[in-house]
Amino acid sequence: MIVVRMMKTVKIMNAVLLALSVLAALVRSDPPRCEPGDELAGKQEPLRPSRRSHALPARCTGMLLGYCDDMPYSQTVFPNLLDQRSREEVEMSTEYLLLSVLHSLLNGECSPDLRMLGCSVVVPRCDRDRPVKPCRTTCEDVRRSCVHAFEGISMAWPYFLDCDRFFVSEEEGCYDPLEGLRARQEVTLASISPEESSTIIQFIYHSNAQMVNMLKKTAAQCSDISHTYSIGRSFEGKDLLVIEFSDNPGQHDLLEPEVKYIANMHGNEVLGRQLLIYLAQYLCSEYQLGNKRIQSLVNSTRIHILASMNPDGYELAAAEVEDSNDPDGEQGPRFNGWTSGRANAQNIDLNRNFPDLTSIVYSLRRSRRFRNDHIPIPDSYWFGKVAPETYAVMKWIRSIPFVISASLHGGELVVSYPYDLSKHPQEEKMFSPTPDEQVFKQLARTYADAHATMADNNTERCGAPFGIRGGIINGAQWYSFPGGMSDFNYLHTNCFEVTVELGCDKFPAEHELYSEWQRNKEALLSFMESVHRGIKGIVKDKHGKGIKGARVSVRGIWHDVTTAEDGDYWRLLTPGIHIVSAHAPGYRRAIKKVRLPAHMQQAGRVDFVLEEDLSEAGLEGFDLELMDTYERFDPYNQYERYTLAELGQNGEERHEKPWWWSYFTQSGNVAPTWLLRND
Ligand SMILES: *[C@@H]1O[C@H](CO)[C@@H](O)[C@H](O)[C@H]1NC(C)=O
Ligand SMILES: *[C@@H]1O[C@H](CO)[C@@H](O)[C@H](O)[C@H]1NC(C)=O
Ligand SMILES: [Zn+2]
Repeated sequence: MIVVRMMKTVKIMNAVLLALSVLAALVRSDPPRCEPGDELAGKQEPLRPSRRSHALPARCTGMLLGYCDDMPYSQTVFPNLLDQRSREEVEMSTEYLLLSVLHSLLNGECSPDLRMLGCSVVVPRCDRDRPVKPCRTTCEDVRRSCVHAFEGISMAWPYFLDCDRFFVSEEEGCYDPLEGLRARQEVTLASISPEESSTIIQFIYHSNAQMVNMLKKTAAQCSDISHTYSIGRSFEGKDLLVIEFSDNPGQHDLLEPEVKYIANMHGNEVLGRQLLIYLAQYLCSEYQLGNKRIQSLVNSTRIHILASMNPDGYELAAAEVEDSNDPDGEQGPRFNGWTSGRANAQNIDLNRNFPDLTSIVYSLRRSRRFRNDHIPIPDSYWFGKVAPETYAVMKWIRSIPFVISASLHGGELVVSYPYDLSKHPQEEKMFSPTPDEQVFKQLARTYADAHATMADNNTERCGAPFGIRGGIINGAQWYSFPGGMSDFNYLHTNCFEVTVELGCDKFPAEHELYSEWQRNKEALLSFMESVHRGIKGIVKDKHGKGIKGARVSVRGIWHDVTTAEDGDYWRLLTPGIHIVSAHAPGYRRAIKKVRLPAHMQQAGRVDFVLEEDLSEAGLEGFDLELMDTYERFDPYNQYERYTLAELGQNGEERHEKPWWWSYFTQSGNVAPTWLLRND
């Protein structure tokens, strides 16, 4: 099963091409015959003739075109709406070839709607010897719900499905080319009662193209609460696509906390990637079905999901699983040794590639003025190798005020939390807590406790006895490593990130995906909901204007958070009494005492109004130079310099034609440049 599903893109391509070649051979087996019209025109013309004045009068004629034989009419007319003069010309055309293969190219999506839409243009309905044009509204509907499928395979929307050019309005007497299809679907729908409606997810693996396609399709289905955006590209040029959910997708709302999920950072750890693809579909569908819990989550939270941070590595890992050709039973924990695809295409382990700010904190922790938040990236970092995936994620997490995050991995069953780097250089396994140890423990437990088995002492483990600890552990105590993403989140931004190890098997068999979703679903939801803990509020001046970059400190926790663009902040805290203060350069510090009960439905609201203070005291505790350094990102453009140089040697792929291109050019027709996207 999995072996079939996980075909490497190249192999899928070959399979499709093979099928396509057979089709082409069929289509081309009859040489084009001469139509009476050709003689009248006086000379043999190439396939695409210009309109001629002396053509025979048009006549309704039988359709007889295999790929359009389910249209709800039997008579068509030549020339068709594309000015193709005969059935043979249509059969030889790239337009018809495209219709015949759309189903396989798009993996069955938008089928048969797209094909029928196309048929209504290449073999239009004929009425009293004249073509009847199809309806523009139908075209627009299909386009809206199917345009993402073309994006998924980097193909442009075909010119002959241009709704403005070949379709007309109802006033102009159009007909609905999907009429027959609708009638059939109504019968099927009528047999399903509305109470049974629930989210339907296909628990299968998704190739990179299928993943992009699925995420775009989901965002299109839920366009009120969702959209997709790219944060950059992988080394081999694949989009790092994020799907976002919120009541105002695309923008930050005042006081609304932001959450992110990242998976597949290690390309061979694939379960998280699939879970996040399912999660996106689940959020969209349940919101629409009126699920109150999901609605209030999405209404009150901005959720960002990066299902694959390392699509290049994934492709490699998936190919290896397929090549192993083992029967289903052979997949399991013992393949943990496999590391193909863990790193990115430059062989960089992304979870070792972030700036190591933890060492800086350790080396300077005894200096009194030193802070342990918003640590600038040292210039030296930029002179090492920075993977494009790392670069993209760093830019992303600097640009959005994320509050919490989880990075989904595989190979163990545990949630680990910062620091990942041991505080002692010689101790590989040393408990190395952050000042927010209590908050991190609470966050990690939120996931582990809501997971079906993670916190359970009796669960079969992958080796380490994490059950005794309730399925959570400090990262450095497990094993120490520098340059991890979670430490970077904590020390460079306001975001608290944990690492979730989803299970022993990094690449589970396909039939296990459904039960894994069941095991993790509640945990994935609870974790997002836990962003509404602790306190949040706005730090403003006496005119009520939000102050950006103010610091919110909690006594006893040596780690501040800072306010976002409009002065809003979020501070995760454990229940109890806390002394909280806010402070900004040029203002006097304001202090409040806060009591947080054990059970809260939402974050406590704590606002601060700061008095101006232009004296020395107003600047105390602020290192303006350090703040300036923090703002700089890749100050010497080192990243661009070496990335472009390397791409020159290895990155030609970016400019290659898409995988389906060679087929259309082999068919002997004019190369259909209209299928290429110009982005
Ligand atoms: C979420 O917001 C939508 C749109 O404003 C509203 O219709 C819906 O009732 C809200 N649901 C919940 C549970 O807050
Ligand atoms: C967990 O299981 C281990 C071994 O099975 C046992 O020794 C230990 O006491 C258990 N711990 C708890 C908290 O139940
Ligand atoms: Zn990993």
